[in-house]
Amino acid sequence: MHQDIERILLSEEEIAQIVDRIADQINKDYQGKELMLIGLLKGSISFMADLMKKITVPCKIDFIAASSYGNGTVSKGRVNILKDVSQSVENMDILIVEDIIDSGNTLSFISKYLAAKHAGSVKICTLLNKPSRRQTDIPVDYVGVDIPDEFVVGYGLDFAEYYRNLPYIGILKPSVYS
Ligand code: IMP
Ligand code: MG
Repeated sequence: MHQDIERILLSEEEIAQIVDRIADQINKDYQGKELMLIGLLKGSISFMADLMKKITVPCKIDFIAASSYGNGTVSKGRVNILKDVSQSVENMDILIVEDIIDSGNTLSFISKYLAAKHAGSVKICTLLNKPSRRQTDIPVDYVGVDIPDEFVVGYGLDFAEYYRNLPYIGILKPSVYS
């Protein structure tokens, strides 16, 4: 587990500070409104759990599961919905909560999908962003940190379904996946 981590990118304390900063901004921006947080399973669970506790406007939560990378580390560019939201998004102000944006393919698809379901508004919040890997240009409204092109795990993020339970975000040793 820990021996597979090359170095820690964000400690638990650093993550908590980022979550506070993003929540403050969201609370300002959505003042007087209601919010629906939609987390993308499974990677967003830790971020979602911490972020929602800091939201002070009236708020509902839901989840979507979209097809993942399988056991690889590279996006295949095709997105399938494995689990849909369990309530109407019509006229709701939606904030998609994501662990990391890489190619942007998943988020681009999901935002359009929610807009087609007549959401009132759709914004995107991500803890991590890899801008150098973007294939589809999407507006990202809230970003925790931009990170270099390295494969990271922990705090919900996985490699082959492992490491999600690490409390910090670490760079995985390339020897683990190559
Ligand atoms: P995108 O469609 O390429 O932007 O893929 C985003 C999804 O890929 C994220 O929600 C993650 O599940 C996964 N992903 C991308 N980069 C990483 C990484 O460095 N570690 C773990 N998962 C990643
Ligand atoms: Mg994900």
